Amino acid sequence: MSEKQVFKPNRAFAKDARIKNMCEYHELQDKAMEDYEGFWGDFAKEKIDWIEPFTNVLDESKAPFVKWFDGGKLNVASQCIDRHLDTRKNKAAIIFEGDRGDVQTITYLDLYKHVNRFANLLKEDFGVKKGDRVIIYMPMIPEAAYAMLACARIGAIHSIVFGGFSSEALKDRIEDAEAKVVITADGAFRKEKPYMLKPVVDAALEGNTPVKKVIVVQRNFEDVEWVAGRDYSYNEMIEQKSSICEPEVMDSEDPLFLLYTSGSTGKPKGVQHNSAGYILWAQMTMEWVFDVKENDTYWCTADVGWITGHTYIVYGPLAMGATTVMFEGVITFPDAGRPWSMVENHRINQFYTAPTAIRVLHKMGEHEPAKYDMSSLKVLGTVGEPIDPPAWKWYYEEVGQSKCAIVDTYWQTETGGHIVSPLPGATPIKPACATFPLPGIMAEILDPETGEKVEAGEKGYMCVTRPWPSQIRGVWGDEERYVKSYFGDVKKDGKPVYFTGDGAVYDEDGYITITGRTDDVINVSGHRMGTAEVEAAIKKHPNVAEVAVVGKPHPLKGEGIFAYIVLKSDDGVADEVEEVKAINNIIKHEIGNIALCDDMVFAPGLPKTRSGKIMRRILRAIAKGEEITQDISTLEDPSIVEKIAAMVK
Ligand code: WTA
Repeated sequence: MSEKQVFKPNRAFAKDARIKNMCEYHELQDKAMEDYEGFWGDFAKEKIDWIEPFTNVLDESKAPFVKWFDGGKLNVASQCIDRHLDTRKNKAAIIFEGDRGDVQTITYLDLYKHVNRFANLLKEDFGVKKGDRVIIYMPMIPEAAYAMLACARIGAIHSIVFGGFSSEALKDRIEDAEAKVVITADGAFRKEKPYMLKPVVDAALEGNTPVKKVIVVQRNFEDVEWVAGRDYSYNEMIEQKSSICEPEVMDSEDPLFLLYTSGSTGKPKGVQHNSAGYILWAQMTMEWVFDVKENDTYWCTADVGWITGHTYIVYGPLAMGATTVMFEGVITFPDAGRPWSMVENHRINQFYTAPTAIRVLHKMGEHEPAKYDMSSLKVLGTVGEPIDPPAWKWYYEEVGQSKCAIVDTYWQTETGGHIVSPLPGATPIKPACATFPLPGIMAEILDPETGEKVEAGEKGYMCVTRPWPSQIRGVWGDEERYVKSYFGDVKKDGKPVYFTGDGAVYDEDGYITITGRTDDVINVSGHRMGTAEVEAAIKKHPNVAEVAVVGKPHPLKGEGIFAYIVLKSDDGVADEVEEVKAINNIIKHEIGNIALCDDMVFAPGLPKTRSGKIMRRILRAIAKGEEITQDISTLEDPSIVEKIAAMVK
């Protein structure tokens, strides 16, 4: 395989695909360009079962605050469940595989009952109303999906916090969202052993908190503390609840959920997604990008704590009436054949994961896929970071047996769904390349200075020049931050456009390759970390005077975290090992294990301009072991660069 090689879609697959060739792709894209509102209005009418039809497709009068499908009324949980009952009530909605291999099949009718019971529980016993915020801090078990959909059913706004975040990170999100209820579990299983979540919730609720009640799903039945009058067992209450719950009638633009994500500065932002536009694009991209058919079984290995889990484990698959697999365990346990044994067992047709997982599975079990029957696979997806050609090649040849399309899907928490991706039946694929904008998405690589589209080979900023239905609607509680974060950097024809924060480049055929973040966001194993957050955590150590954190290429994680730390005491580090341990403990406590540093260097100072700005570019180059080519003569203390570089070497 050469990197220049182009992989044409599998012919037999393309014949039945929803978008069968590039002509059909261009027809759709042309229609969107000629009649943008007509394009989206038609799909919205076709795909959504409206309680009341919308009267207006797009209102941009207050851009960048936009409204889609104004006047329309719907309920997202009904979209995902009720409307399938006529034709699919006995079809598997969710196939759950536990860490220890336990399997549960939940039909659409089962899902309907579980969600309605949960919705009634929230409403009747916990007083949750439309517009209230509910925090979900859960392992990967079906009840996490029930909780999301129960919130959607009664119009409550869920905000999921990834189970790997610490009590402090959870506390911050609870406070910012002013949530009144937390849904959690005692814990779950990992590598056949119980691990706990409830104690983290207990710690997050210490002191002043807006949370009045906690619902605890008992999954591993380990002993946990119960606070009388605050904590309630889901298992004990749920059976008494009615399995009928009328869905709340929601406006198109009523918020569906918040999901906190890292930006380049400050605390994580509560990215807000609203009802109609989000669910429309979740469904359309499921259909186009994974091309899931009625009898298919689709598996996305993400966690519901991230946007990929929201859109492509729960909302997208269920909106289209597909069968979605949910997995509690670790993909390399008991060995690196676990996902492939699941492919064989469940006859998985579409498999969606992150490059970091592909690299680990490749490294730990290069020949594992060959031990299993992988013939059911049709489409393989990747998301979260640029995929490197060796990982792509292994994924294509060993996992996909050189017959599956690889869809390298580019998107973000803020975009709600994919924005740049191959279509498996249509797009001739180049390895490690996100290819083209999806139909309806006006994604362009622009020169940040001129706002013009860049030439082939020239690096530019990945932007979207028109609003689209599933775009972020706001940053919770901070209108200004929304405008500044996304619409402040690039203007096209004098008008601000949405900037993703990523750099990108076209090749000579117009294919898009994402080159990575242009800001201070680090992508660790596909998880977004803000340098500011990690730095704020490290600064809590009493002996830390200054700190700067940068990303450094990592063979498995994509990027690792590299910290330069200046200590207060002059006598340097008495015991470096102890100091590293102490700082990592603080990070664990403030954010969670996912933010632990791969490297720490105790530097005598940091390279700063005379105005005090830390030159991260220099620090990035030192971390990578690169020559410093930049002019450093304007630094406050140019000699510091050499000193740090010597320490890193
Ligand atoms: C990166 C995850 C290259 C990118 C869905 C983006 C990618 C950030 C790709 C969003 C891809 C995501 N190729 N880079 N296919 N997909 N990214 O919000 O830097 O957790 O801005 O959403 O991941 O991360 P987030």
